[in-house]
Amino acid sequence: MSAKKLPVIKLKDVTKKYGRDDTEVRALDNVTLEIDQGEFVAIMGPSGCGKTTLLNVIGLLDAVDEGSYLLDDKDVADMSGAARARIRAEKIGIVFQNFNLIGRMTVIDNVALPLTYRGMHHTKRLLKASRVLKSFHLSEREYYLPSQLSGGQMQRVAIARALVNSPSLILADEPTGNLDSRSSHVIMEELAELHREGNTILMVTHNPNLTSYASRVIRMLDGHVASDRKIRVIDNDKPEIVTLRHPEKTKVKKPKTAKKSKPASEKKLKSKQAKGAKK
Ligand SMILES: Nc1ncnc2c1ncn2[C@@H]1O[C@H](COP(=O)(O)OP(=O)(O)OP(=O)(O)O)[C@@H](O)[C@H]1O
Ligand SMILES: [Mg+2]
Repeated sequence: MSAKKLPVIKLKDVTKKYGRDDTEVRALDNVTLEIDQGEFVAIMGPSGCGKTTLLNVIGLLDAVDEGSYLLDDKDVADMSGAARARIRAEKIGIVFQNFNLIGRMTVIDNVALPLTYRGMHHTKRLLKASRVLKSFHLSEREYYLPSQLSGGQMQRVAIARALVNSPSLILADEPTGNLDSRSSHVIMEELAELHREGNTILMVTHNPNLTSYASRVIRMLDGHVASDRKIRVIDNDKPEIVTLRHPEKTKVKKPKTAKKSKPASEKKLKSKQAKGAKK
C-alpha cells in the first residue's frame, strides 16, 4: 500500500503587505496553496511579483498579515519566535537570493552556523560543514572570507549552508542565478537527488529550462498564483499535465497526440490523380 502524501505547506487566503496607505504594496494577495511532501516546485514570474515574499513566509522569516499558514498541520501564527527558529534549524534550508553570508565569518563558519542551533559540538560542526563544502568543490576556500569569493562561489557557499542540516524542506531563491552552466548543473543535480530522497523543494527561477527538474510549476503575477501545473508521470513516455486551479478541483489535460497524417507516398499519389483528372 502506498502511503498517502500529506501537504507540508497549507496557505489559505494569505496576504502580505508592505508599506502603508499610498505606498502599500500587496506582495502576496490572497494566496491559497498546498504543497505535498516530496514535491519539487518551480516558482516563476516577473520581478516584483512576490516570489521571495512567498519563500520568506513559507520559511517562517516573515509573518502573514491575513490568512493562515499551516506547516506540517501546525498553525505557525500560534508559535513563538523561538519555536519558529527551532523549526527552521530542524527542517528548513534556505538559499537566499542575495546569499546572506556573514561577512566577518569564514566560509566554513558560515556553513556550520545552522548546526549551532542544534547544540552540536564545535569540532563536529566543522567536520560536517567541511564535508558539505567538499561536495561543492569548495574545500580550498574553507578559511576565506565571503568578500574574497566570486559571486558563483558565494552562491555555492550559501547552498552548502542551506543543506548542512539535512533539511526536509528546501527553499531556494534563484539558486543558480550567478552560476555558469556547469556549476548550475552540479547544483540542480544535487537538488534533484534531494528530491529523489523524498525532500520537498521550492525553487524560484527565471530560467524556463530548469523547470524540467520540477514536478510542479507555479507562475505568480502581482502577488497571486496565476497558474499552477503539476507534471504527473504515470507512464514515462506520456507525462500528464494537471492544471490545479484550486487544490480540491483538478482538471486533467491529456497530452496532445500528433494527428495521424497520411503517408507521403499516398499524398503524392492523390495529387497525381487530381492532376490527371484535370487534363
Ligand atoms: N521589505 C520590503 N519593504 C517594502 N516593500 C517590499 C519589501 N520586500 C518586498 N517588497 C515589495 O513587495 C513586492 C514583491 O517583492 P518580492 O521581493 O517578493 O518580489 P520577487 O518576485 O522576489 O522579485 P525578484 O524576481 O526581483 O526577486 C515588490 O513590489 C517589492 O517592492
Ligand atoms: Mg526575489
